[in-house]
Amino acid sequence: MKRIAVMTSGGDAPGMNAALRAVVRAALAKGIEVYGIRQAYSGLLAGDFERLTNREVSGILQRGGTILQTARNDEFRTPRGQQKGLRRLNEHGIEGLVCIGGDGSLRGAMSLHNLGIKVVGIPGSIDNDIYGTDMSIGVDTALNTILDSLDRLRDTATSHERAFLIEVMGRNCGYLALVGGVLGGAELTLIPEKQLDLEEIGGRLEDAYMRGKNHAIAVIAEGARPNIHEVAKFLEERRIGFEVRITILGHIQRGGSPTAFDRLLASRMGIKAIELLHGGTSGVMVGLRGQEIVPVPLEDVTTKHQPASLDYYEMADILSR
Ligand code: F6P
Repeated sequence: MKRIAVMTSGGDAPGMNAALRAVVRAALAKGIEVYGIRQAYSGLLAGDFERLTNREVSGILQRGGTILQTARNDEFRTPRGQQKGLRRLNEHGIEGLVCIGGDGSLRGAMSLHNLGIKVVGIPGSIDNDIYGTDMSIGVDTALNTILDSLDRLRDTATSHERAFLIEVMGRNCGYLALVGGVLGGAELTLIPEKQLDLEEIGGRLEDAYMRGKNHAIAVIAEGARPNIHEVAKFLEERRIGFEVRITILGHIQRGGSPTAFDRLLASRMGIKAIELLHGGTSGVMVGLRGQEIVPVPLEDVTTKHQPASLDYYEMADILSR
């Protein structure tokens, strides 16, 4: 293999730059030329390629976001778009592709693998919803941002004896809410994987008030039902004792310098991806299983679902008393 391309795709995640740096440097060390595709599948279709050397990836290890930029693209979801993508890769003499991104992005990578390009995926998404890896790049940094926010919000919640409802990201997966709730000492956590009704939610927070707590923190996943606004409205009407305030953390969770964990994970995954591609492997994603970085078939990654572990839910229940 003489020339490969690399892209970052889907929502950005802290550590994508660290993964990109590892991919480029590991490939160059094996004598493989690397091209960066700007703005993911949009850039692929537009032929927006840039030669990357060790210098282009210098000084990016600690930077959040992605220097290649990213995008969500509808055209590439169609067979015609995928063919056009293959053509662009052929025009540039690209034999292999490393795609760093979430499940949607890896589905795109899978389609290129099916068209004959050698492809290895790297899981990059703060949601931790990608099948086949214990952790995706960016999750740890996002969790630390959530914890920092919860700690700050508790200060003001306690000072005013208020209940704070805090919405965190995660799309349809409750991982960030669940682990954020456990580690941030939340009184209540709502996730898409386990629905509670409004009466139960009100009862739990009222109970915290009656037991003499001087604040209540409820962490609510963006995909949870009822959603944060419905919960707030219900609590206002029910009068649970605490005054209620809402905070939506939003895209703050996606930014920032990657933690040590994310830098290490990204660097290990980047090196492993090149090792696999160089050895002729295609159609896999590199995943973290325990302490090991292992190949996982993209077929599984793109068809199976990884919900948040309900073990954490029980843990949250015991620790929130
Ligand atoms: O997948 C990452 C994520 O941040 C989700 O948690 C969230 O639902 C979504 O992306 C937001 O997407 P956008 O930045 O396109 O609004």
